[in-house]
Amino acid sequence: MASPAPPGIDRILFSEDQVTARIREVAAEIREKYGQRELKLIAVLKGAVFFLTELARALETPVKIDFLSISSFRGGAPGMVRIAKDLDEPIQDEDVLLIEDIVDTGFTARFLLQTLAGREPRSVAVCTLLDRTVRRIVQVPVEFRCFEIPDRFVVGCGLDYRQNYRNLRYIAAMHPDKGM
Ligand code: IMP
Ligand code: MG
Repeated sequence: MASPAPPGIDRILFSEDQVTARIREVAAEIREKYGQRELKLIAVLKGAVFFLTELARALETPVKIDFLSISSFRGGAPGMVRIAKDLDEPIQDEDVLLIEDIVDTGFTARFLLQTLAGREPRSVAVCTLLDRTVRRIVQVPVEFRCFEIPDRFVVGCGLDYRQNYRNLRYIAAMHPDKGM
């Protein structure tokens, strides 16, 4: 790493090179499944944007992109989310990949998968940069994943700690007293 780790960072889990190499591998898995079919990549703002752009370039097949954002109900039960910004375009008859930064409890991905499935896409699948299955509360099918991670709060490659650190080129674990 060129510069010293910023405050609060404990250790690097995946280097920039490891992340790039793994995204290329997953892009190859996606190409194998969909061939030259055009894909609609849908990213959840803001965390998944970094992963979406790198994946889209690694795919080298036709893609369209769209974005949505969600927010939690204030004071609501954990996992209660709603769409704060919806997609710009319909997804009917399209092959949709829901691009996530991390699937943790699974609440967000399950809600979005159900919401998107109700709009009659040709297919819809989840593609996530990180998967922390040890914390899963609700089951959700994750078709493509770059990395399984341990039970630590992580930042970088789009993931934030209080809106910071999204632009780190690597994925790092925060000190245990920060984050979760
Ligand atoms: P889920 O609904 O519990 O699966 O939550 C997923 C969302 O929580 C992700 O899209 C992230 O925005 C956020 N999140 C969960 N774990 C982390 C983490 O370790 N670092 C940063 N954000 C996280
Ligand atoms: Mg997120």
